[in-house]
Amino acid sequence: MKWPEELNFLNTRKEKQKETTQDMTGFLSVVSGATSGIGLSTVKVLAKAGSNIVMVCRNQEKALPIKQELESKFNIKVDIVIADFMDFESVRRAAATISQTYARINVLINSVGIHSTRKRYNKDGIESSFCVNHLSVFLFTELLLDKMKQSAPSRIIHVNSEGHRFSGVKLKDVNFKRRIYTGLKGYGQSKTAQLLTMLEHDRMLKDSGVTINACHPGAVKTNIGSNNGILYRLFFKYVTSLFLKDVSISSSALYYLAAAPEMEGISGKFFNLTIEETPAKHAINKDMILPVYQLSKHMVGLDDA
Ligand SMILES: NC(=O)c1ccc[n+]([C@@H]2O[C@H](COP(=O)([O-])OP(=O)(O)OC[C@H]3O[C@@H](n4cnc5c(N)ncnc54)[C@H](OP(=O)(O)O)[C@@H]3O)[C@@H](O)[C@H]2O)c1
Repeated sequence: MKWPEELNFLNTRKEKQKETTQDMTGFLSVVSGATSGIGLSTVKVLAKAGSNIVMVCRNQEKALPIKQELESKFNIKVDIVIADFMDFESVRRAAATISQTYARINVLINSVGIHSTRKRYNKDGIESSFCVNHLSVFLFTELLLDKMKQSAPSRIIHVNSEGHRFSGVKLKDVNFKRRIYTGLKGYGQSKTAQLLTMLEHDRMLKDSGVTINACHPGAVKTNIGSNNGILYRLFFKYVTSLFLKDVSISSSALYYLAAAPEMEGISGKFFNLTIEETPAKHAINKDMILPVYQLSKHMVGLDDA
């Protein structure tokens, strides 16, 4: 059956996923959101393949036992860099530390993310989903672009979501000051903004040897949403989670996108796990790419002026 492009994701999820066993010995993989869920599962898979790891996370105590486990099991080096993605200054410090410390980054995976049913703001008045899922990841990636270019061939992967289909970007009110907020709208807007800026980064990185792609990691059992209220958490525990898959499908897909030789040179694409898919129209709208890119630069304080 031929689906309209918008609904193609209902079809691609049935396709056989691609796999790799590529050795990553000597690689350095920087993974944000590495202390839980998809990021945690991914650092385990990449470490098993031989990659050294930089865990970018907000909680040193949570990260330490993970570092110790990976180092003792896989004979690799794991470093922890602290960054709170609700705070641009913290993200800037983490990116500076990473740029100064490592000569080469082979893989950058951004798995950090939240789903917030309540409208919350960071100290700069930025809505939390937009801040964590999009702006801080955008800032972190921008600040590491030169290092990624020096390290070419290298790969950047954003853990995005089919949830981008829930909303476009409202340029004049990304912070929901003049419209009603819902968790799905906030989440969808942040993931759409990420896809639009990925397209601009892809254009900027043409012929640099750096690729950038986005991945929907499947609907999997993780701690996402654990910041929400008791009703949400109970519903998630007793209903939603029954339909969710094991997180290993996500890490296996991210390993494929990060390491498979077949992925060399492929850039600017959206993958449902390992299957390429067309994003929603609002996430590839050419008229929105530059405005969202420029707004993001402005909001994180990277204006040229
Ligand atoms: N699970 C799914 O079915 C699904 C589906 C589509 C897309 N995704 C995407 O997958 C990514 C990973 O989510 P997950 O499902 O693995 O959720 P998760 O288990 O909650 O992991 C999220 C990670 O992000 C970190 N994080 C959250 N807020 C942060 C902040 N302010 N500063 C620094 N780190 C922060 C968390 O740190 P702590 O460990 O300290 O909490 C954790 O390491 C997200 O981008 C999400 O949108 C997930």
